[in-house]
Amino acid sequence: MRALFAALLAALAAQSALAVDRSKFRTCQDTGFCRRHRSKAVEAKWALDPKSLSFAGATLSGRLDGGEAGAPPLSLTVRLLDTGAARIRVVENDGRAPRWESPDVVLEDALRDSSDAAQVRADDAVVRAAAGETTSLPADSDATLLHWTSASGRRQLAAVRFAPFSVDVYSEGKHVVAVNSQGNFYFEHRRVQNEAAAEAASAALGSGGSAGSGRRILDWGEDGKPIYADGDDDAASAEAAPAEGQGDASGTQLLSNSESEEGMGAESFGGHTDNRPHGPTSVGVDTAFPGSTHVYGIPEHADTLALRATAPGSSEAGAHSEPYRLYNLDVFEYELHNPMALYGSIPVMIAHGQGRTAGVFWNNPSETFVDVAKASPGASARWMSESGVFDLTVMPGPSAREVFRQYTAMTGTQAMPPRFALGYHQCRWNYKDEADVAAVDAKFEEHSFPYDVLWLDIEHTDGKRYFSWDKALFPEPAAMQNRLAERGRKMVTIVDPHIKRDSSWRIHTEATDKGLYIKSKDGGDFEGWCWPGSSSYLDFTAPHVRDWWAQQFSLQNYQGSTGSLYTWNDMNEPSVFNGPEVSMHKESKSLGGVEHREWHNLYGLYQQMATARGQELRVADGNTRPFVLSRAFFAGSQRYGAIWTGDNAAHWDHLRIAAPMLMSISLSGLSFAGADVGGFFENPDTELMIRWYQAGAFQPFFRAHAHIDTKRREPWLFGDEVLANLRSTVRTRYALLPFWYTQFYHTHASGEPVIAPLWVDYPTDETTFAMETQWLIGSDLMVRPVVDAGATTADVYFPGTEQWLDVASMERLAPGRATVAAPLDKIPVYQRAGSVVPRQVRPRRCSALMANDPFTLTVFLDSAGKASGDLYLDDGISYDFQRSKSFRLRRFDFEGRVLKSSLAAGSKAFAVANSIERIVVVGLGAAPAKAFATNQDGAETEVDFAYDASKDVVTVRKPGVKAAYDFSVRFE
Ligand code: NOJ
Repeated sequence: MRALFAALLAALAAQSALAVDRSKFRTCQDTGFCRRHRSKAVEAKWALDPKSLSFAGATLSGRLDGGEAGAPPLSLTVRLLDTGAARIRVVENDGRAPRWESPDVVLEDALRDSSDAAQVRADDAVVRAAAGETTSLPADSDATLLHWTSASGRRQLAAVRFAPFSVDVYSEGKHVVAVNSQGNFYFEHRRVQNEAAAEAASAALGSGGSAGSGRRILDWGEDGKPIYADGDDDAASAEAAPAEGQGDASGTQLLSNSESEEGMGAESFGGHTDNRPHGPTSVGVDTAFPGSTHVYGIPEHADTLALRATAPGSSEAGAHSEPYRLYNLDVFEYELHNPMALYGSIPVMIAHGQGRTAGVFWNNPSETFVDVAKASPGASARWMSESGVFDLTVMPGPSAREVFRQYTAMTGTQAMPPRFALGYHQCRWNYKDEADVAAVDAKFEEHSFPYDVLWLDIEHTDGKRYFSWDKALFPEPAAMQNRLAERGRKMVTIVDPHIKRDSSWRIHTEATDKGLYIKSKDGGDFEGWCWPGSSSYLDFTAPHVRDWWAQQFSLQNYQGSTGSLYTWNDMNEPSVFNGPEVSMHKESKSLGGVEHREWHNLYGLYQQMATARGQELRVADGNTRPFVLSRAFFAGSQRYGAIWTGDNAAHWDHLRIAAPMLMSISLSGLSFAGADVGGFFENPDTELMIRWYQAGAFQPFFRAHAHIDTKRREPWLFGDEVLANLRSTVRTRYALLPFWYTQFYHTHASGEPVIAPLWVDYPTDETTFAMETQWLIGSDLMVRPVVDAGATTADVYFPGTEQWLDVASMERLAPGRATVAAPLDKIPVYQRAGSVVPRQVRPRRCSALMANDPFTLTVFLDSAGKASGDLYLDDGISYDFQRSKSFRLRRFDFEGRVLKSSLAAGSKAFAVANSIERIVVVGLGAAPAKAFATNQDGAETEVDFAYDASKDVVTVRKPGVKAAYDFSVRFE
């Protein structure tokens, strides 16, 4: 009994040792705008005025009337893009300056109109063909119909309905997305307390118009000015505002809690009050995905890959009662299976059902809640944002890969990482000093354990002054980096966004003197508490601040740095220890006078953008690819580097959740993501270490990291057997670097994710729709790591109709379910039939040493005796692959017993001498009589091979051909 009690206590202690303090973070219930949306406190019926419509180029424009009594009209545009996507925007049209929008999320210049977009009639032949399954298109009197064809030839149709306003999008005859079909379109006007304040605000914003609230608006005059219910439209005689709160910089009076509509004025939480000087400005809508059964995306949440229902009244098992929240936060000891916000936000949702995939991108960086519902005829989402404009892009697919392209055409694709960044990274908080760094590096050498990057956390600095070194611990930082670089390795140092308020430190004095800090609502430099104590935060939303920041990375400014030093941007949600929800007051302001609430979720993106730029600028003509790891992220962050999932724990459930979290991020355009291998908090046992390395080796960003209070856990500290196991796993990663690098080229070029859930390639196989224990790398490798304590087998699902090849044992597995043996040294990894996978199998200590190594190609034939694959080659570090197209994308095709290597379109100048040292062909059916290789000069020679009849594997050694050039190998 006592033992049981003790065990119970221990279990409770273990639980409480790692439990988020929920009271620190707001829920929907604690948040006025979320409550208002969910309760539809303001019944709004918006209608599109058919007489207002015009269609020009590929854009429909019109006027929306409705909403709160007397609300001014809104301007609607629906722009039809050549990707097949449709961008729907609604903005205020009340004569005042427009709401703030970031110019840096959507690549406006890259957007192309559809070339054949047209407004059509319901009886047009083109409409009937495009409508397909749609039997009930609205009549012309109820809607206007738009037709366009995507660049890939997909016929798209949008029915824009008048009253109530809604948009239905069809792709290839399937109804894929419905916008506002549930009537949740919601748009709160910025309001001011009285006309005088309005004039002041208007003048401050540089617009000539005015608006008033606090008084009931009856209508809007021709001049754009409000007509009040009290009949008095004379600004000067408007009632004075109640003297509550204080005016903001633009002179606007604050709304008070006593506003008639609940939650319209100041809101308090956790001892912080947000006065919300512009009153309620929220926007929202519902998007439904007819025919879909599953929805994914809207990272970052520590939850299942397939999103759960959250809408009030959801009866689905496992439904959440709270909506998913998108508000970048530093959540200490985050909890799993919870819709709470985490460090990053990407407001993208992808819906999938039998035979169709569609998505929506809700481009809004203010605090956002998303409710998910699963009711027939498909899953739906409700988007609720505190502020910002209404900017919704419908991505009609109809395949998942088309959705990825439609999305990344707007926000950009993953930056092509330098090749070393795909290797293994060794991090901990903290490597103590130069001797520690040297010792760790020497141990990696001694044990022939590959690694590319050694990381230094905050303790390396002089008192958390970034860009500096603790002089006692790191007296010769450049020499330290050079020693690593001599062996081909790099170093990463942490550079956080909070700046210690130390008047004897150049970074701070310069930032102060030049006025680069975010301002508090009272106009002074914002001060908050973070690692260095009292800190200020640079305004990364301002281009000139980003330029200044970028310059701090020059070798002159960042003393002790070298060209092999890269960067880690942490705490950039931003984390403010004494701020509301551990972040920044929403009333703080950018240098442009824009409130933090408008750009909160973009702060990390902007810091990473500026840091990446800094790394480019430190070298002549900027011709080196940066590597920057960021904790916070938003839509578009993929253009600047990698992210990781923050402070996880050395628990099995944290290992398990890494896969769905990373897939969710990857589906949302950001492929370069990873989770701390081993778990950040607490100490992993050897089994967890082994299994975590095995999973991490098959996830895009592969870094071991640990909290300062944990035991040291470098790979050799667990004994020889574990060391050998971990080394073998990391070597497996290195052998596959050519494959990873090729996948990164593809995501960079086309926006398709590097890792993806199985349903992306097996879209009609329902077994795969909620699967999150296994994933694809590209299309050709599938991984199902062991993530359960004590497990020695793994249940694997083999999708499709062809066999899969166990890459370690070369055994073939039939489609369907199987339980495979998975002892501690086994990583269940499989190659798809019909594929060619390149490797470099010579064990090396880092990726740089593999530059000239030969390649092995593993060709696994499908039942038709065919296979294909590719290999991307470039210099691994510069932008020459872009600037001078200096790269080679080799294509491999096996057909009719011949393997051919040819140059894929687009590449040209990159010449390397690496040879192909081995070609392994699985599935020829019998031993060939002879084999011949033809090199790039056309010379054919007979080559030796071995045949393993038990596995039907032919191995050709030294075929005498080169990886970068044309060749063929033929079997007789
Ligand atoms: C929080 C980060 O998430 C963690 O990885 C890091 O070690 C600490 N900050 C200290 O910098």
